[in-house]
Amino acid sequence: MTGEELVTLAERAAENAYAPYSNYHVGAVLLLKDGRTIEGCNVESAAYPLGVCAERTAISKAASEGVRPGDIDAIGINASPCGGCRQWLHEWQVERVYFRRADGSIADYAPASKLLPDTWDLP
Ligand code: THU
Repeated sequence: MTGEELVTLAERAAENAYAPYSNYHVGAVLLLKDGRTIEGCNVESAAYPLGVCAERTAISKAASEGVRPGDIDAIGINASPCGGCRQWLHEWQVERVYFRRADGSIADYAPASKLLPDTWDLP
């Protein structure tokens, strides 16, 4: 699957976002190495800091189905991932990251650690 296709799927996944506070709808789609795709969207809370980003929703769904770091080929997102999600993408060893830039172009990073210079890992 191309980056453009994954980001298009993420744009569709963003339609399920629960974002009544920010009204900023984010979707993320994982492509697993076994070919499965897993979607996520942001889920906000009236207690604002408890909201969850789309990327972490998708990874949490995958983890709860037994997916482990190293099983994820790629992720498509309809927006640039925040710093916290970059740490998750690094933890989960996502091999390719695609997202839609504000100017409409597709950003392409491989692997996810490229989005996080001097990555932190538990010593
Ligand atoms: N958001 C994501 O879902 N992913 C990101 O990487 C950036 C931010 C969400 C969180 C919140 O629901 C909304 O965007 C506004 O910050």
